[in-house]
Amino acid sequence: MNNGLDDVVATETVMSDVDGLAGRLIIRGHSLDDLAGRHSYEEVVALLLAGFFEDLPAERDLAARLGSARAEVFEALVPASTRLGHPTVTEALRAAMAPLADGEDLATALRLIAAPAVLVPALIRQRRGQPPVAPDAGAGHAADILRMRHDRMAAPEAAAALDTYLVTVSDHGLNASTFTARVVASTHAGLVSASLAALSALKGPLHGGAPGPVLDMLDGIGAPEQAEAWLEASLDKGERLMGFGHRVYRVRDPRAEALKRSVRALVAGGEQTEGRLALAEAVEAAATRILARRKPDRPLQINVEFYTALLLEALGFPRESFTGVFAMGRLAGWIGHAREQTLYGRLIRPQSRYVGPRPEQAA
Ligand code: ACO
Repeated sequence: MNNGLDDVVATETVMSDVDGLAGRLIIRGHSLDDLAGRHSYEEVVALLLAGFFEDLPAERDLAARLGSARAEVFEALVPASTRLGHPTVTEALRAAMAPLADGEDLATALRLIAAPAVLVPALIRQRRGQPPVAPDAGAGHAADILRMRHDRMAAPEAAAALDTYLVTVSDHGLNASTFTARVVASTHAGLVSASLAALSALKGPLHGGAPGPVLDMLDGIGAPEQAEAWLEASLDKGERLMGFGHRVYRVRDPRAEALKRSVRALVAGGEQTEGRLALAEAVEAAATRILARRKPDRPLQINVEFYTALLLEALGFPRESFTGVFAMGRLAGWIGHAREQTLYGRLIRPQSRYVGPRPEQAA
């Protein structure tokens, strides 16, 4: 019984291709290396949404429209959001986004992409007793997110790192949250419903909830020389190492290198420490070695979440907000997939095989 649908091809898509053996990610015809650090998130949003909205503007106009959407979301959703008492920023984000009116149009799509960008900084600040910072509709998307988070202009390497991160996680084949978005979209429920369902799928620790626990692991290990013993003990207890392993990749996740480059730039700029990066590198090396010995049949290396953890920590995002920051980038992918499903797909309705008792077997 294939209860994880491994290797099942459930749809055709023009959005992205994950080659798990070669360790290659193609996003709408471009390799990740050609996009991450070279094109802004706004440009990648235009790329991911191309062909799915009749009124999609040119790239520059799309950036301006996204800026206006940030301003609109701030006015409409931030006042009520800062009264939400949910345990994590991600859960508060989901509740704060819920009042958005459902629809299939570009305005709904841009409001959805803008929503976590505006709400996550406001929710973090609210939890620290700080007032929200209004967006600057004319600023770059990533730089504006950091300004709303810290109430000051971000250093160029910090804005560049967040921009690279958002591009890197913008789409990734038929992962659990994207599949969720497509299932909901296939019922024609609308983009808000599809995105909120996808956000709920993303938040689990086996998917987009892993980077917070990666930092907990690094804190638990403490120093490079303790990595080996800590990791062995954790695996002896039957635990999974967070930030390692992937359903599709049998090699190192190609997104990890793009993110590690950004972490190095943050170390050079003083946002992240040499010591933290050295600890992470030591843990990666030790865990890769130990996992190869313990699970020789299952190649297990780091996934996107490992260096994400160091990157988001350096940018001043608390652990419990990491999934919300992931959503800032992935929203563009979810929306592209949802539109593709609605325009060209059918209702997704697989079958199950009943293995419970039948009435005629009952005594
Ligand atoms: N640490 C230790 N062992 C692992 C890990 C890990 N991180 N990942 C897989 N394994 C082992 C399993 O224990 C299993 O061993 P067994 O066959 O001896 O029981 C074997 O590898 C296969 O595991 P599956 O559960 O079948 O692998 P699956 O493809 O379902 O899991 C997943 C993929 C969920 C990502 C898994 O590797 C994992 O739990 N990783 C840790 C959480 C994580 O980092 N999640 C983020 C993923 S990236 C993303 O979603 C954005």
